[in-house]
This record gives sequence, C-alpha cells and structure tokens, in this order.
Amino acid sequence: SVVYTMPFFQARGPIQNIVNNSLYQEVYLGKVWQLSTGPVGSPECQICTLCDIDKDPNFLEDTNNQVLLLDTLFMYLYSCGSSQYGVCHFHQLNSNGEAPSLSKCLYRRASNSAAYCPDCVASALGTKVTMVEEGQTVYFFVAASVNDSVTQRYGRKSISVRRPLATEDGFYSDVRGLTVLPGLRRTYHIEYVYSFFTQEFVYFLSVQRESPDQDLSPFQTRLGRLPRNEWEMKRYREIILECRFEPKRRRRNVAIEPYKDIVYNVVQAAHFGCAGRELAEELGAEEEDDILYGVFAVTDDNGVTEHDSALCAFPMDNVNKAISDGVDDCCKSGPEQLSRGLCHFQPCETCMARQLSSYSSVFGCENNATCRDYPTMVSKPYYRVDLFNRQMTDVLLTSLLVTTIENKTVAHIGTSTGRLLQLVLTRSSPIIFANYSLVENQRVSSIAAVYSSEYLLFVVGDKVRVFNSRRLSTPLQAFHCGLTSV
Ligand SMILES: *[C@@H]1O[C@H](CO)[C@@H](O)[C@H](O)[C@H]1NC(C)=O
Ligand SMILES: *[C@@H]1O[C@H](CO)[C@@H](O)[C@H](O)[C@H]1NC(C)=O
Repeated sequence: SVVYTMPFFQARGPIQNIVNNSLYQEVYLGKVWQLSTGPVGSPECQICTLCDIDKDPNFLEDTNNQVLLLDTLFMYLYSCGSSQYGVCHFHQLNSNGEAPSLSKCLYRRASNSAAYCPDCVASALGTKVTMVEEGQTVYFFVAASVNDSVTQRYGRKSISVRRPLATEDGFYSDVRGLTVLPGLRRTYHIEYVYSFFTQEFVYFLSVQRESPDQDLSPFQTRLGRLPRNEWEMKRYREIILECRFEPKRRRRNVAIEPYKDIVYNVVQAAHFGCAGRELAEELGAEEEDDILYGVFAVTDDNGVTEHDSALCAFPMDNVNKAISDGVDDCCKSGPEQLSRGLCHFQPCETCMARQLSSYSSVFGCENNATCRDYPTMVSKPYYRVDLFNRQMTDVLLTSLLVTTIENKTVAHIGTSTGRLLQLVLTRSSPIIFANYSLVENQRVSSIAAVYSSEYLLFVVGDKVRVFNSRRLSTPLQAFHCGLTSV
C-alpha cells in the first residue's frame, strides 16, 4: 500500500510515445531539448511550416504523435503525427545531446494529391510502424486504423510498406498495401496494438471482430505477418492468437461436469523478446529463440473488458510453423474448399479460386506456388495457455516488459489501477517479487520501453517512470501464486 517514489519525468500533457536512445548506462531524467510539433497553424509549432501543405487559417489543427522511430544508422528521429494527413518528419539528432540541427518534412507537393498520397502515413485513429534496415535502405512497415475519411482524402492504407526516398523529402510513389474494403470501413475497426520484427518477418498484433459483416461477432487477437525484404502484399499472412486457460480435464469426469476453456480474447499489451533458460526449456524453446509475450483480458461481444487477465508466451518458431501449415492446408484443400479469409481486405474466395483461374489462364502450366502468392488467413487459431493458471482474476493487466536475469525470465507488468508487478515467470507458478503502487488509480500505458539492461521505462499519464529491473525484491509471500496463504 506504500506509494514508492521512483524517479520520474513529468511532461506538460499525456505522453504519447517514447523511444530509447540511451547514450548512458545511467538514466538522466530531465529535459535535454524540446521541439514543438503542433498545433498546425500556431506560431508555437516549430516544424509545421516545413511541409508544403495548405493550412486552414481559421483552424488550429492539433498534432497527436502517432509514430516515433529512431534510425540509429543516421541518427534520424522520425515522427509522424495525426495532423497534416499523417505526414512524417525526420529530425537529425546530435551526438552531443543538443537540439536537432535539422528537421525535414517527408512530403512532396507535386507527387501527392487528395486522390493519391504516398507521403500520407499515419492515421489519427491509431498507427503502429516498424522500421527495418536492409543494407542502406530503410523500410517503414505501417499499420493504421482507418475509416472513410482517413482513406478517401489524402488516403492512408491499413497495411502498407513505405520506402523513404534517397532525396529525403518523401516516400516512393509505388505504395502497395491492404485497406479495409469501402463497404466495411464504417463498421469494421482494426486496432493495432503492437508491431515488431525478426530476422525474416515484420509482425502486427491487432484486435478486431471475428467477422466483418456481423456487428456483434466476438473480438479476437490476430497476428499479421509480412516478409521483411518485400514491399508487396502477396505473402501477407494472418493468424488468430489465443491465450487460454484449460481446466485440468483428466482429473475430472468430463461426462458429469463438462466445462469450457476460457479464452482471453483481447491482447492489452505485448512485448517481443526472449526467455531465460528455465522458461525456454519449459516452453520447449531454446534460450535465444524469439518469444512474443502478451497480457490478455476477456472482452464480451459489446466490447466491455472484464478485469480478468492472463499472460501467454508464444515461441515465434511455433507460430511461423502454424502459419506455414495453415497455408499448406489452404493450398492443398481440394474439395474441402477452405476460405482464403481476410474478407475485410479482399473479396471472399476459396483457396482454390485463384489457382483455378490461373490454371485456366494463359499460364496454364503454373505450379501451385501461385496459391501462395495471395494474402491468406490461416484457418486454425494458434493458442498457448495462461502462465498464471487463472490467478489474475479481478485485475486488468495493461503494460508488459520482459527481461532476463541469468536463467530467470522476469516480467514487469502494469495494471489499470496504477500498480506495477514484478514476477519470475515459470509454467507452474509465477513468483511475484514486487507489487508496487506507481500511482493511485491511473492506467499504466501499454507504451513502455527497455532503456538498458538495467532500466525500464513505464508511462502513466504525463509521467515516465524508471524502474530498476535488476533489483529483485524479496518475494511477497502472500502473493506466491498458487498459494492463497503461507
Ligand atoms: C537503446 O538505444 C541505444 C542507442 O540508440 C542502443 O545502443 C541500445 O542497444 C538500445 N537499448 C535497447 C535495450 O534497445
Ligand atoms: C474518421 O476518423 C477521424 C479521426 O478520428 C474523424 O475526425 C472522422 O470524423 C471520422 N470519419 C468518419 C466518417 O467517421
């Protein structure tokens, strides 16, 4: 019940994004420089006039930051906001910590219009971007929530790949992407929660309804995947991720007491990382394997989230295997007529539809690789079980960072009521080491960052707080999961 005074930095308003650029091992908590990115039309904005975009003289357009990325090769800090059709800027950072010596707007008036805008990237409804560097080239893998207005004028796409031009004033005009179909934009909302990349792929974690044409179909968590060295969409894949609690069936008589698994259907926050040796073994993975962690909650069909949470760990090798098996199923499904899915991005078709049409076309001899060259949704969900064994009822977990200390895997989890939990993860019974109050009754934001091997940054409202991940407290006995009292 004690409020701990962890070091913090307080901003003037809610913190919208953070990015790590740790020049030091220790954390310096103070403002080094400031750059005003809005409102557009106000003299206060330091970068708004860099873009050759007409402004409404009678309207100050607020800028909410949507994207903040650091290109460590050139030390460019990219920022894309909700204003000016979601255009991006980059800011040249200086190694001495002084204010950026140069900012540029990535928008070319001549190459963009209300009808086609390759330089329009971010959506005010929410945007997640992963930047990957391939050689000297940078790619932006963009996932944006859209509605009619966001797609129609200076249109943005749901999923797209953008390549900044070498001239540093915009993006390549040839933008490939997937966008929610016009008839569904008013009702079908996709919320992008998290994005990350591995050696081979870029991933987007999203929450959306199961069916685009049923108003109250259940919410699901999905993982979208693109190869990181392509800018086309033909190998876009999507799979449903589930975090479940499975009651131990064998111990009970199923005939007498049939009961269902609990599906924690909506991801609240995620972290991509690895596991310490002990947990990796328990998960059937190796220590250096990529693992996606997520905290999930149960959400009903009206979108009301229950305070009942779970944590699942998804080894990415297994997820990728499930995706390729799913694509195999699709492309080998003869009379079964599996659906290719993604009926919100493309017309509903069976897996065989494209194959047949390509067979009957002039390319009659094409092999069945053709079937793989279309965006495909895997029909079977991939699931893992709750590492908390249903111990996290009555709490909504909203933020997650996972680090390792020697062979242990340590999760740092924020809650909707401003608490921070520190636990060692194991499959049998996670051990809670700390349960702090960061603030009273404020949600810990899902934007959080690993600053160094020692320090973690959490955001609550207008404050960034620093948490020392190496200082494990003594386990809180009463919170030893699996035991109700000690
Ligand atoms: C944080 O940023 C620095 C400098 O950009 C980088 O060297 C370091 O690896 C980053 N740390 C983490 C944990 O990502
Ligand atoms: C779409 O979203 C934008 C940004 O939040 C909003 O201003 C606009 O009114 C929305 N348009 C429709 C048609 O709902």
